[in-house]
Amino acid sequence: MATDGSAHEGQIAVVTGAAQGLGLGIAQYLAQGGAQVVMVDLQDEKVTAAAAEVVAAGGQARGVCADVTCSEQVKGLFRGVAQQDGKIDVLVNNAGLGQDVAAITELSDEHWQQVIDVTLTGTFFCCRSAGRWMRRQESGAIVNISSINGVNPAALVAAYNVAKAGVISLTRTLALELAAYGVRVNAVCPGPVYTDFNQRVMAQRCESLGIEEEEMIERVRQAIPLGRWGEPADIASAVGFLCSRSASWMTGEVIRVSGGLEGVSAAPPKQTLSEADL
Ligand SMILES: NC(=O)c1ccc[n+]([C@@H]2O[C@H](COP(=O)([O-])OP(=O)(O)OC[C@H]3O[C@@H](n4cnc5c(N)ncnc54)[C@H](O)[C@@H]3O)[C@@H](O)[C@H]2O)c1
Repeated sequence: MATDGSAHEGQIAVVTGAAQGLGLGIAQYLAQGGAQVVMVDLQDEKVTAAAAEVVAAGGQARGVCADVTCSEQVKGLFRGVAQQDGKIDVLVNNAGLGQDVAAITELSDEHWQQVIDVTLTGTFFCCRSAGRWMRRQESGAIVNISSINGVNPAALVAAYNVAKAGVISLTRTLALELAAYGVRVNAVCPGPVYTDFNQRVMAQRCESLGIEEEEMIERVRQAIPLGRWGEPADIASAVGFLCSRSASWMTGEVIRVSGGLEGVSAAPPKQTLSEADL
């Protein structure tokens, strides 16, 4: 989806998890609107290639390899952007890790921690570092990518639900704390978009339900009131709006972009348990 071509003119925007999927779509959208985009990802080569594509399409972008779960790397990232570009206008916290499909009773310590670390703590680290610069410059917009799961939890992905609910709370808290400085903080809750992330989750759900992936894709489509899966551009345009001057009186908002889908409330069937499960 094209922007009006100037909504983000002159903005310095940092987008995390920008090598692929929604983050890439958001980076492309902001660059089309005139922003200079710093595309951050763990996947070094992929994010460099993605930034080169944005540049080839006429935008301004550079790829930076950083791990949002590393507090020091995150501090260095924002210090580097502030020094090189003189300011940080926009931060989109998009990097997130989906949970392997598993009941709470089967969820390992390590996987719980890994999902919370990337999805919630990574967002906190980036909000804290960018928030300091934005507070000092007394301007800026942060958009945190949560999920419909952050509002309505789905079964078998508890760590992800909790992390995304935490992202909403973090958003609303930071919006209050930075309001006096003119810094706005909002969240977007996407519904299903068929990225690598969602494909992995779908494949695991199909296995547990014993159905084909195509059937699962169709079931999800039918559950979406607007009758289709989302595209990265559907999410990007909402994020772009929140980062633009058009949203200058909006902060602490949590906006669902999901074709009308509020969440998935199906409960898994009972399973036979053995002593070994205790
Ligand atoms: N796809 C969906 O249906 C959907 C729905 C709701 C919410 N979301 C959320 O949107 C965001 C993007 O999802 P996606 O579907 O594009 O996922 P994706 O897995 O395709 O992309 C995520 C990107 O984040 C990067 N990343 C992961 N850990 C990182 C780290 N520690 N540091 C830096 N980068 C890291 C990955 O390398 C990858 O490029 C996530 O926060 C996800 O939870 C997605």
